[in-house]
Amino acid sequence: MKVTYCGHACMLVETKGKKLLFDPFLTYNELFDTATLPHLSADQIQADYILLSHGHEDHVADAEPIARRTGATLISNAEIISWYAKKGVPGHMMNHGGTWKFDFGTVKFVHAVHSSSLPDGSNGGNPGGFVIWNDEGCFYFAGDTALSMDMKLIPMTCPKLDFAILPIGDNFTMGPADAVLASSFIECNTIIGCHYDTFGYIKIDHAAAQKAFADNGKELILLPIGATKSF
Ligand code: NI
Ligand code: MN
Repeated sequence: MKVTYCGHACMLVETKGKKLLFDPFLTYNELFDTATLPHLSADQIQADYILLSHGHEDHVADAEPIARRTGATLISNAEIISWYAKKGVPGHMMNHGGTWKFDFGTVKFVHAVHSSSLPDGSNGGNPGGFVIWNDEGCFYFAGDTALSMDMKLIPMTCPKLDFAILPIGDNFTMGPADAVLASSFIECNTIIGCHYDTFGYIKIDHAAAQKAFADNGKELILLPIGATKSF
């Protein structure tokens, strides 16, 4: 599995020959530099699937144009998939607790504690996260969420996680201290941080956040935008 950080909460995961794009927010991210990363820009990035954790603009802004250009299949909750279907963009709807086998592996749609209105104010259903596994590994993309006791269900119901992508920016989601607890709840020591630094409210001290994880025997990976890590 290859993970490329595209800024904010946007990740590109390559596995089983498929490209899974999570929460695309490229065009309007002031930290994303199209000139240096044209291959990851909304105009050029390649995707087979686009997974949307919830309806907020900083997670769905580029989903429609990328889906139309690439033919990628959207995966999200029922309300978000219905909203895109009305625009003529097809997808696969899931709901909390459900699993489905795709050609790249199994997806479980899990709880997130957050909100989920769509950019035009439509009901975006309830926010979620994704646990995804195949014979290359297993990972958790949490989406925007608070620390939640429900995270303890993940190791009880899914294969052992190889890594997890957790929000750490605070204010709108967990901050680093709660994300350390979350990594214990999900029984995973390798965490890729996301949802930090993009806006004023979520700027974090990188060294302090990484120390909080290291003090608990865990690793917090903060990838530069455009960087790739293999698992
Ligand atoms: Ni959000
Ligand atoms: Mn967000």
